[in-house]
Amino acid sequence: MNRSDISIGDIVIRAEREDDRREVENLIREAFWNVYRPGCREHYLITVLRGDPAFVRELDLVMEAGGRIIGQNVFAEAVIEADSGENVKVLTMGPICVSPELQRMGLGKRLLDYSLDKAASLGYGAVLIEGNIAFYGKSGFVPAAGLGIRYNDLPADADTPFFLCRELKPGYLSGVTGAYRTPECYYVSGEDAERFDRSFPPREKLKLPGQLE
Ligand SMILES: CC(C)(COP(=O)(O)OP(=O)(O)OC[C@H]1O[C@@H](n2cnc3c(N)ncnc32)[C@H](O)[C@@H]1OP(=O)(O)O)[C@@H](O)C(=O)NCCC(=O)NCCS
Repeated sequence: MNRSDISIGDIVIRAEREDDRREVENLIREAFWNVYRPGCREHYLITVLRGDPAFVRELDLVMEAGGRIIGQNVFAEAVIEADSGENVKVLTMGPICVSPELQRMGLGKRLLDYSLDKAASLGYGAVLIEGNIAFYGKSGFVPAAGLGIRYNDLPADADTPFFLCRELKPGYLSGVTGAYRTPECYYVSGEDAERFDRSFPPREKLKLPGQLE
């Protein structure tokens, strides 16, 4: 699909269906391949997330145009272990992606904003993620450290510009300080991802500047 084939009026955001799954995994693989590491694991990650109790089925969303899936986003429940001793329920999000040839047209922001509104309508109070503020900042995310939230076991003074927060209910995290815990289901093994990737057409892994690993 070309950029000129997309008409904004034709775009639909809807729940992922079971028969979308392979198309979604292909899309994720295309979008993440060689972006954060040589190859990627996110297409395997989503298969693990879908089967996890933390996964929020109502927020398993795809963006479709012309009968093709061109974007997706998912969420899982997570907690902040607050310094008060309380566990504060929050969401985490991702993988989120847009088809590579359709990026930087505003589609990612549209999908993200829709997803956040839907998460708010389900009663969730805040979303904490790892991501680039250049994209997420446009949708109201701020560095979580500024709110007194630490990233897993990192100390309070660690430099965590990638760790971002968006309140869905204003004031939900007021007075809350503590450690955010990435849900266990996000820690997938490289070997398992590698094995899963063999069910896709072979693709070259490249070490590129800007990758995280
Ligand atoms: C990240 C992603 C979902 C963004 O979707 P998109 O449709 O390209 O984003 P949008 O066009 O809606 O971007 C909105 C704004 O966010 C910012 N932005 C988006 N992508 C950016 C990037 N890669 N670097 C810096 N700023 C970015 C820009 O300000 C952009 O507005 P502009 O194009 O007018 O400058 C998409 O690029 C993608 O699928 N990337 C690969 C997978 C990935 O990295 N997912 C996120 C993991 S945390």
